[in-house]
Amino acid sequence: MRNFIREDIAFLKPYEAHVVEGNIKMDANENPFPWPSGMQEELFSANIAFNRYPDGQAQELRDAISAYNGVRPEEILVGNGSDELIQIILHTFGGRNRTLMIHPPTFSMYAAAAAITGTSVLEVPLLNGISLDLPKMLSFSAAKDSLDVKVKNTDIIIVCNPNNPTGSLFPKTEILQIVQNTQALVVVDEAYAEFSGETMVDLINQYPNLLIMRTFSKAFGMAALRLGYVVGNSALITDLNRVRQPFNVNSFSQQAGVTALKYASAYQEQVEIIKKETQMLYNELNKIPGVNVLPTRANFLLFQPDAPDLWAEKLSARGFTVRNLGSLPGLGKSLRMSSGTPEENQAFLKAVKDIASEL
Ligand SMILES: Cc1ncc(COP(=O)(O)O)c(C=O)c1O
Repeated sequence: MRNFIREDIAFLKPYEAHVVEGNIKMDANENPFPWPSGMQEELFSANIAFNRYPDGQAQELRDAISAYNGVRPEEILVGNGSDELIQIILHTFGGRNRTLMIHPPTFSMYAAAAAITGTSVLEVPLLNGISLDLPKMLSFSAAKDSLDVKVKNTDIIIVCNPNNPTGSLFPKTEILQIVQNTQALVVVDEAYAEFSGETMVDLINQYPNLLIMRTFSKAFGMAALRLGYVVGNSALITDLNRVRQPFNVNSFSQQAGVTALKYASAYQEQVEIIKKETQMLYNELNKIPGVNVLPTRANFLLFQPDAPDLWAEKLSARGFTVRNLGSLPGLGKSLRMSSGTPEENQAFLKAVKDIASEL
């Protein structure tokens, strides 16, 4: 039979999450806690006209996000998770004959969206798997006042901060150095900003080439509802709106976002617990002989035990699903785990100690 697929995307593998029924999920960097008390009841009692199309402008939600981030509603675009936003950004500013720079190891959807949109990818690997290679990133992106755009033409740079899967938080000054010295559009994916406590949303009007991505999937515990947003100057947001599907975020998720932001302080309490727990896990994992752990500012940890595949198997057999990332550039074979509740983390550490003593 004829192969109907575009040749340049035939290499892509369909994304399949590996779910083990009954296991504690520590593989997707989600918030392990239930929603703050009262939030679900409030959301479920909202009057939503399900027979009508959603508000395509998501006005109420953008107003709420605007108050939460101290930016104007016209500086916000919402999407069906950041995954959709990455695609919208590349459809709008990438495409054939355009190049996206990324810093592997980083979030896999950037390269996938680049392939789908026909955007070339330029990889500037992290140094030792944890620091931005600033000189290289700058030399491969045309300087602001350079006419030499043909030779070193990078159109978009995505910096993931804190970075998935390493958990590293890159210094704001380094990202700003890129933003200030390049002609490219710089997108900072701040999916884990609530955990790192650092954001660049306040700088969007200072830099016309800066876009920030955020999500409700992590700190706000709404991964199931697929809700993310981009913050940037209104001209960039207008461009993204040319490409965005008219009704990309359903009414229920819009209402959930509005409701969640009313509970921001209750979420902050969860975030503080998760931050403490993640550092506790870092300290405890570090004590296990033969296990290397990377410092993190997110709600997850990257670690390299002696035999990662075996560790992943043994952890799974004991009821804990972690993410086996295989071999990562600069780091080798690695596992990633997200913090659970304090009880889950204690049980996890017990399993880790048992496994370490067995091997
Ligand atoms: C860095 C980063 N960006 C974006 C996403 C996707 O978020 P969303 O659930 O909003 O699509 C993830 C999810 O793991 C992520 O780690």
